[in-house]
Amino acid sequence: MKKRVFSGVQPSGALTLGNYLGAIRNFVELQHEADCFFCVVDLHSLTVPQDPVALKENIKNTARLFVAAGIDPEVSTIFVQSQVPAHAELSWLLECQTYLGELRRMTQFKDKAKKQEVVTTGLLTYPVLMAADILLYNTDQVPVGEDQKQHLELTRDLAVRINNRFQEEVFKVPEPYIPPRNKGGRIMSLTNPAEKMSKSSPNPKSYIALLDPPEVIKKKIMSAVTDSEAVIRYDEETKPAISNLLVIYSLCSGQSIEDITKQYAGVGYGQFKKDLAELVAETLRPLQEKVKELSAPGVIERILEAGAEKARAAAAPHLRRFQEKLGIR
Ligand code: AMP
Ligand code: TRP
Repeated sequence: MKKRVFSGVQPSGALTLGNYLGAIRNFVELQHEADCFFCVVDLHSLTVPQDPVALKENIKNTARLFVAAGIDPEVSTIFVQSQVPAHAELSWLLECQTYLGELRRMTQFKDKAKKQEVVTTGLLTYPVLMAADILLYNTDQVPVGEDQKQHLELTRDLAVRINNRFQEEVFKVPEPYIPPRNKGGRIMSLTNPAEKMSKSSPNPKSYIALLDPPEVIKKKIMSAVTDSEAVIRYDEETKPAISNLLVIYSLCSGQSIEDITKQYAGVGYGQFKKDLAELVAETLRPLQEKVKELSAPGVIERILEAGAEKARAAAAPHLRRFQEKLGIR
């Protein structure tokens, strides 16, 4: 039996190079060895204010980017979370097994809550909905970036708690699949290497959007902050900015960081950044062309309809089983 893989991406703006290198790239690789479900998690994006018109477009664009990045809808299941009501249903049932303290302790909740004028309960229970996403599909492996580690631990805790309560495996306990930092687990902002690259950043220069045209990519990389010592060397602690650029170079070129460092010995930051800009633009070019093809009316809609149908069928028995255990079915 093939392993089951599940992951989700929020449609809350333009996907970034961080999303691609930290997560989506691995989705593409895993699809040939596992039975994969990739979800546009629109319900998660509602935990902070969204413009309805933009959100509707972003949902489809996120799905298009999945396909353009190389996820084959004939091989993997691509779908939108809100089209499978079992996610919201299981989330409620899991909330009744989750402790308030566990959710209050989540670092992402604390960070995001600080930035909001009003904090909704959705922002607090966000990780429970994520646990529902994962547990609904009997998931073995969850490919995500490093920032999701704590959420995955909660998912595992919930599965173990429920299995202990019922003295049998109600839910499979999923394993995280998180790349190390030097393999893209945490791509940092181009303007502040102490922060992760994020599409919700107010400063577009801090991230590369997957659909940024080559000139924009070039400008952003050329203006990326670097460290004072003008030597190209990997050291996360003392040279976080250049280390981040080295990781991006390595993942886009397939070369090891060691080889790149040798290649640029004695070469200044300017040339390195110029080459990197070209490399990133070349890496994204095929993806950008594919997105255009997928923008023809009806194409992505059909993929998502078929995906939702498959997802509904895969989720139903796992929800039912828990409902039976709880005595509501
Ligand atoms: P999100 O955009 O928050 O829905 O994230 C989608 C996926 O991309 C998740 O698996 C994240 O962990 C991953 N991700 C987001 N930003 C980064 C980043 N800067 N570096 C590595 N992975 C990231
Ligand atoms: N919380 C994840 C993020 O912001 C997105 C997500 C929602 C997810 N449900 C998931 C990731 C299930 C993996 C599995 O990146």
